[in-house]
Amino acid sequence: MAKRVQSVKGTRDLLPPETAVWAAVEAVARRVFGIYGYGEIRTPVLEETELFVRGVGESTDIVGKEMYTFADKKGRSLTLRPENTAPVARAYVEHGMQNLVAPVKLFYIGPQFRYERPQKGRYRQFYQIGAEIIGESGPYSDAELLLMLVSFLRELHFTELVVLLNTVGDKESRFEYAGKLRAYLQPLQEHLSEDSRRRLVTNPLRILDTKDPKEKELLLDAPRLVDCLSDESRRHFEKLCDLLTRFGLRYRLETKLVRGLDYYSDTVFEIVSGNLGAQDAIVGGGRYDGLVASLGGPQRAAIGFAIGEDRLVDLLPDSFRGACLKAPLVAVASVDPVDTAEALSFAEELRRHGVDAIVEFASRSIKSVLDRASRVGCRFVVLIGEDELSSSTVTFKNLSSGEQVRLPRAAAIEHLKETA
Ligand code: HAM
Repeated sequence: MAKRVQSVKGTRDLLPPETAVWAAVEAVARRVFGIYGYGEIRTPVLEETELFVRGVGESTDIVGKEMYTFADKKGRSLTLRPENTAPVARAYVEHGMQNLVAPVKLFYIGPQFRYERPQKGRYRQFYQIGAEIIGESGPYSDAELLLMLVSFLRELHFTELVVLLNTVGDKESRFEYAGKLRAYLQPLQEHLSEDSRRRLVTNPLRILDTKDPKEKELLLDAPRLVDCLSDESRRHFEKLCDLLTRFGLRYRLETKLVRGLDYYSDTVFEIVSGNLGAQDAIVGGGRYDGLVASLGGPQRAAIGFAIGEDRLVDLLPDSFRGACLKAPLVAVASVDPVDTAEALSFAEELRRHGVDAIVEFASRSIKSVLDRASRVGCRFVVLIGEDELSSSTVTFKNLSSGEQVRLPRAAAIEHLKETA
């Protein structure tokens, strides 16, 4: 036997019926985001490497360690996108979207690629559902984006999720704070991990979201970013908190929340779940007022989020999931010597009436037909034998009650239409 070719490590096939759940989640996203005035953007999965180096930041784990980067046949350095905010900002600039009525609201659904160690909830190809609003700097757009996110999650029947919220301030606030944090941590260097020691030089703020309990303890007395905020950043954040309270959106201030991508300024947020293990973030997002300009576009404030769809689907409440997993309602079978074409023809008629039906293609015993139909989850079986054919009737069996009746074809169709 030939050796099997396997899927690439960290990637996976999504199969039915699970794909029906994914499609249902995506349909809700399209509907909800549409109501808020967002249009869909589809950018390529391949981008020039430079986009992420400049956009996401050279010192980030994503760019430093996790990108699928390769040279194409002409030697150009290309990267499979590890995230989609930088590509959306690139497309915004490339298509002159700054000339559209601001703000521009875009959403996307698609695969992202990061070379991370695969584990539960962490894949090398994973999917994000994201939204970006570009060209608006005020806190009202932050609030509206979060309201949209939460109403999307509510439509998926999530009720317990809380938004973790923080501000990383503007560039000047961050610069001042980075200095203070560095001064605080420098004497404690020997207690820091190698990663954190490196970050002390490149980006001290990232040390704040360490997972290491020892480092967490060291940080208890560290200077706080909120104490370094400029008046404008403080006003922005306070107004946002007021708005969220006014609209009853549950959030928790998380003063050590900093995100793993360099483009953030002011508002940052995450949604985490206790049920995901180590990979607990379902949503990450924030404001990125400098990104568009750093990619050669005009100065445009922006904010967005990305939901990890794999993790979201993993956590979906049963009530939503159950409604997505619909088996065909009915199996239609011809009984020997009636030609299978009769079953095919009746199934076509059912489908024209919107009834989802499958056909038993081979001639089988009635017991085997019933058994196979119940295994795929059908609720009814329609049998067409010689008698049924000559009298324009069908034998109609309810698999859950076991009840079996002979019905005129029209009556069977009506009954199934009502049930569908
Ligand atoms: P991020 O926090 O890097 O942000 O990713 C967002 C979400 O993608 C995470 O919360 C997680 O659910 C999911 N995710 C990330 N890596 C993996 C992985 N290896 N396997 C499975 N799921 C994963 C961003 O990507 C930003 N672009 C978000 C954003 C949009 N900020 C502003 N606009």
